[in-house]
Amino acid sequence: MERVFVTRSLPGTALDELRQTGYRVEVWTEFLAPPREVLLERVRGAAGLITMLEDRVDAELMDAAGPDLKVIAQYAVGLDNVDLAAARERGIVVTHTPGVLTDATADLAFALLAAAARRVVEGHDYVRRGEWKTWHPELLLGPELHGATVGVVGFGRIGQAFARRARGFEMKVLYASRRPKPEAEAALAAERVELDELLARADFVSLHTPLTPETHRLMNAERLARMKEGAVLVNTARGKVVDTEALLDALEHGPLFAAGLDVTDPEPLPADHPLLGHPRVVVTPHIGSAGLRTRRRMAEMVAHDLRAVLEGRTPRHAAVLP
Ligand code: DGY
Repeated sequence: MERVFVTRSLPGTALDELRQTGYRVEVWTEFLAPPREVLLERVRGAAGLITMLEDRVDAELMDAAGPDLKVIAQYAVGLDNVDLAAARERGIVVTHTPGVLTDATADLAFALLAAAARRVVEGHDYVRRGEWKTWHPELLLGPELHGATVGVVGFGRIGQAFARRARGFEMKVLYASRRPKPEAEAALAAERVELDELLARADFVSLHTPLTPETHRLMNAERLARMKEGAVLVNTARGKVVDTEALLDALEHGPLFAAGLDVTDPEPLPADHPLLGHPRVVVTPHIGSAGLRTRRRMAEMVAHDLRAVLEGRTPRHAAVLP
């Protein structure tokens, strides 16, 4: 019986179904990720792995699994933790979960935008502290959403879904991406501009790029300083796309009014991190895709693609197909 190792429990019934179709499915059921040494031990002899974004899926891990390893099914769309070249060299298929989490992630990005701009969390804390004594014309003012200009950095599936939400709020959409996206541009009345122009014009900037050597700390001190006075930055992509020190500085001394972050650097963010001491920073713990339906469907996708490879069929969502 072929063995499949899953590095966390998954919602829904996909893993039970995998068991019922004849696989020996072993799941790491603790809440925290398996320690590296344990992971290297547990993958030994596996034909398939289901991995998460916190697992370092590199040559060492693949070699620890051994020659039976045929497929790594990543329970995420992002693959920055997976050494794709090492998988390719070893003839291992890598699959992931594009598409299914687009809307859930765009929803959260927009929620963070609204929460950071309109000071939702700050207001909630204010009430909880018992400071709500009166209505006042100058209490907790923040930038308006409707009619504002939003800059979308990375105009793939999630960036476009975010832009659709922005259009619903009557926002003007600017986007920066390596390639023009004429269809989406027409549908969303979006304007493609260089990143510097986007930063100078947008009231809200939302990041939707994968983490690559080119996007690592894309939002550095220089770029953050180019943002419009009173702008809000939203990041639901990867924490390392933003230079955290520079972000703090831009909030304290630069143009930034607020930030809404679902991803951070470092991640997880310690509770005593200075970002959390800033009143207008809203942080959620990397839950962009955490919709009930979405996370179940992601589980079905990884299980389906993993089975496809183990049964000699072509998986539907392959990132590496040797
Ligand atoms: C992804 O899919 O890459 C997200 O960050 C987690 O769902």
